[in-house]
Amino acid sequence: MSATGPRKLPIVVLISGSGSNLQAIIDAAQAGLPVEIRAVISNKAEAYGLERARQAGITTRVLNHKDYPDRESYDAALAAVIDDCGAELVVLAGFMRILSDGFVRRYEGRMLNIHPSLLPRHRGLDTHARALAAGDAVHGATVHFVSPELDAGPIILQARVPVQPNDSPESLAARVLREEHRIYPEAIRWFAEGRLKLDQGRALLDGKPISP
Ligand code: GAR
Repeated sequence: MSATGPRKLPIVVLISGSGSNLQAIIDAAQAGLPVEIRAVISNKAEAYGLERARQAGITTRVLNHKDYPDRESYDAALAAVIDDCGAELVVLAGFMRILSDGFVRRYEGRMLNIHPSLLPRHRGLDTHARALAAGDAVHGATVHFVSPELDAGPIILQARVPVQPNDSPESLAARVLREEHRIYPEAIRWFAEGRLKLDQGRALLDGKPISP
């Protein structure tokens, strides 16, 4: 610790939409989470999360995937922006794009995602409706390291949310989202404090494998 407090980990946050998870991270950073959000990057110019970032005085960048001929060239441009920021952690917070294997490998062990289900259940989209259709008694959210296979990287932290008899996809999503806002800053704190690592495909906390 220095006179100005612990070192802050430089991060970037990638979004596509509302950015409520981004807001939770901004709030946590203002309350002492040791990260510096160097930039918020969106693939959509209309993403409300960009406004949240501006309100917090954070640099924003829009990289519209429609401006690039293919996934590889988009991901190369994205990587250039991330590296330019000096980010040591890439935080995917509702970034609704499939990433190329090359991009994922480049940030292996330093890229996190949050997914609105209890992985490995319900990878992909429409997780709340699918949990209801499957009759799940418990649903939730997962923070995981990103690996090339979609929504399949090593699990770091999960929050369980009981399904209620009258739940709609929207009511369930709202309760899951509240839990997302709790667990994502917590997982980021572990990483920023050097407690969380990816080692040979396993997530380790304080040197011990995490078993969800
Ligand atoms: C969140 O529920 C997040 O888990 C989900 O998108 C939402 C973004 O909300 N991510 C995925 O589905 C990724 N596969 P937010 O923009 O308000 O944070």
